[in-house]
Amino acid sequence: MKICCLGAGYVGGPTMAMIAHKCPHITVTVADINASRIAAWNSDELPVFEPGLDEIVKSARGKNLFFTTDKVSAIKEADIVFVSVGTPTKTYGMNAGQAADLKYVELCARDIAEHAEHSVIVVEKSTLPVKTAESLKTVLEANSRQGIDFQVLSNPEFLAEGTAMEDLSDPDRVLIGGEETPEGQAAMATLVSVYATWIAREKIITTNLWSSELSKLVANAFLAQRISSINSISALCEETGANVDEVAFAIGSDSRIGPKFLKASVGFGGSCFQKDILNLVYLCKHFGLPEVAEYWNQVIEINDWQKHRFSKRIINSLFNTVNGKRIAILGFAFKKDTNDTRESAAIYVGRDLLEEQANLAIYDPKVSPSQIYFDLQADEGSARRDMIEISEDPYEAAKGAHALAIMTEWDAFASLDYQKIYDNMMKPAFLFDGRNVADHKKLREIGFEVYTIGR
Ligand code: UDX
Ligand code: UDX
Repeated sequence: MKICCLGAGYVGGPTMAMIAHKCPHITVTVADINASRIAAWNSDELPVFEPGLDEIVKSARGKNLFFTTDKVSAIKEADIVFVSVGTPTKTYGMNAGQAADLKYVELCARDIAEHAEHSVIVVEKSTLPVKTAESLKTVLEANSRQGIDFQVLSNPEFLAEGTAMEDLSDPDRVLIGGEETPEGQAAMATLVSVYATWIAREKIITTNLWSSELSKLVANAFLAQRISSINSISALCEETGANVDEVAFAIGSDSRIGPKFLKASVGFGGSCFQKDILNLVYLCKHFGLPEVAEYWNQVIEINDWQKHRFSKRIINSLFNTVNGKRIAILGFAFKKDTNDTRESAAIYVGRDLLEEQANLAIYDPKVSPSQIYFDLQADEGSARRDMIEISEDPYEAAKGAHALAIMTEWDAFASLDYQKIYDNMMKPAFLFDGRNVADHKKLREIGFEVYTIGR
């Protein structure tokens, strides 16, 4: 069997590496239009940082795992084509800021129709609005040649960055949606057989296409909703003297609620939560359900509010001005163990502080300086660029700073030498822990003015 994947991003790359690793009998080719990304996948410096990914890629690359820019050859040979290109929120035209931009997905369908030399199973891996499979099928069929049949399946990805390899190797479930025709059922059975190589059959759920597409959006909406729920309570904790982590533990011990995704924070980020909820909101409006749309939109509103609340807290605490003050930002990735910054809370807080004319000294163990400059809209030669310093380590960032803000829960931030940091900071030395990772009692003993989330 030959598998091709269009899109070598955070999802396509690790997912295909795992399939190749677990299924030596399958040849897997990952194609991307971005030549430098493909070159990186073929080098020792992979474009995606994920614990455990390097080993898996190295074990299979060149044997049954290939990375290429030649999508035409990859499509020609494939029995199954995964579509894993980006589906960002539209930034232009109708429904900008809400609907997903499906231009890349449609281009993939046109490529597949043009180049496939035999019948192909097309698998939607990218998160898509419900009913996209129908559009894909229409494009494929309108452009197909005689004797070539296309079956479209939905197989949403549930991996979380930072734990992608564990999530792929031992998932809670795999979801596959397909048409209820004999051909649709046969296509599903083929894809089931790929995953069943290493995943117990009862964990592989099969549904109709629309249920599968919708489940991905709903899973992310429910997860994000829990974070916004606990974050809304964090504000109330700050007012009442309750401790949000104690509240989270107490409620999470109820097996009906459960302990996961109740960690209060400066706000959720990542490429999926906001985009998928916006998608859900858009769908609800489209189908004439404004009350449902408004309900889910609140999850995003609370998240935006939480990020700006954190910036305001910093500015207010620093005597209502950060103008010209150095503020150390520890962590820029949207969560630990990834170099991904998409929708990271650090971007929003960083921009708020720059608007207030603060100088930022930023340290992140995995994010590249160019990515940080890009996210903060600080082009080379711009005035903003001079307001941002990228630091080699947390101690350098904190040197001479009025305040330190922890934005990502990197493990190392719990055990820094905070005495050394304090000694080199301006006084009073403020510390804003956006992830509640440091030992606040100890920090106060050292002399820090400590602000936390929800305590
Ligand atoms: C993507 C989708 O954004 C997400 O909705 C889905 O759930 C999984 O796939 P991700 O892998 O994180 O997520 O995106 P990204 O890292 O941006 O990778 C997409 C890749 O597709 C990029 O490398 C891009 O160069 C490539 N691409 C894009 C193509 O090869 N062809 C195109 O036409 C467009
Ligand atoms: C998410 C989903 O978990 C995954 O199933 C889906 O396939 C893609 O979207 P991801 O965005 O990679 O994965 O990471 P996740 O662990 O869900 O974290 C998202 C954001 O929420 C991060 O910014 C994280 O720091 C934040 N978060 C998470 C909290 O603030 N509190 C929590 O309790 C959990």
